[in-house]
Amino acid sequence: MVCTVIAGGFWGDEGKGKIISYLALKEPLDFCVRTGSVNAAHTIWFKGNRYALHMVPGGFVYEKCRLLIGAGSNVDIKQFLEEVEQTRVEDRISIDSQASIIEEKHSAQDKASDHLKGLGTTGRGVGPAIEERVRRTAKLAKDIPELKPYLTDVSEEVNDAIDKGKKVMLEGTQGIMLSLFFGTYPYVTSRDTSASAICSEAGVGPTKIDNVLLVLKAFVTRVGTGPLPGELSKEEAQKRGWFETAAGTGRDRRSAPFNFELAKKAVTINGATQIALTKLDSVYPACKGARTYEELPKDAKQFVTEIEKRMGIPVALIGTGAEALDIVDRRG
Ligand code: IMP
Ligand code: MG
Repeated sequence: MVCTVIAGGFWGDEGKGKIISYLALKEPLDFCVRTGSVNAAHTIWFKGNRYALHMVPGGFVYEKCRLLIGAGSNVDIKQFLEEVEQTRVEDRISIDSQASIIEEKHSAQDKASDHLKGLGTTGRGVGPAIEERVRRTAKLAKDIPELKPYLTDVSEEVNDAIDKGKKVMLEGTQGIMLSLFFGTYPYVTSRDTSASAICSEAGVGPTKIDNVLLVLKAFVTRVGTGPLPGELSKEEAQKRGWFETAAGTGRDRRSAPFNFELAKKAVTINGATQIALTKLDSVYPACKGARTYEELPKDAKQFVTEIEKRMGIPVALIGTGAEALDIVDRRG
């Protein structure tokens, strides 16, 4: 593996953070590039601590991993500085000079808009910030004195790393069903979330990608408004152990059983080469903490086999618990 793109297959919250943290430690990763913005929270459990990161790339768990935020991203300065302090990555994180800035006013506009409220946005201001960028009046990272020590050219660094055979991860946010282009419009986020868009935001061309790892949770969740096929009641979700609350906003997540049609669509649009199946232990509790395929119960194995058959690509990683290393790694 040289360059991997990691993308979400449903409505976000598939467990990308956990998979990234595992690969960061296991490979280990030399570079991890975050795309997207502060609306997304990637949850990582590491050494007994829980991190819900909106800005710092998930690869931070490996202490030698270079951390970058791509030109297509939107940076919340306060959030960035707080997370840099929390994760103690000051000496190994940089932002592309051309990343744009989310300001307080964008969040205020997001929260004040009845239209955006109706879509159930996170209220973090990402939509209004992107509007401003499209209007070409947005501030960029290079305009902000506090960010001066962190500026770099992400595209140049990452392409150079790929040419040298370093291990690089391009970290996507949300999932394909929240894509501005391919999702459940208008109940979507303000940008494309596909693997191609992740490459674009990082400044890496499609010929440089070796692997597109699609993260699918063993059941489906979404927060905010919009359609969710097969949606369960909150009571039923609680009964099944699938009830979750959002890492970023604390809102209830709606849930539904695994959806093969949506998964297939996600595989196609992302050009996925491998699947990471997360939270298998929430659907088959006997999987909890398993680290070999043999330990999984028969019905869980059948589920994995059916996914591989219908998607036509391997389920390479299986999540069996919250900690970074609770994974069945079938990559051989
Ligand atoms: P916005 O991205 O804050 O504008 O919100 C638009 C829609 O995307 C809403 O339904 C949000 O709940 C959803 N959304 C945005 N970011 C995330 C995420 O990281 N996880 C899950 N849903 C998200
Ligand atoms: Mg999340």
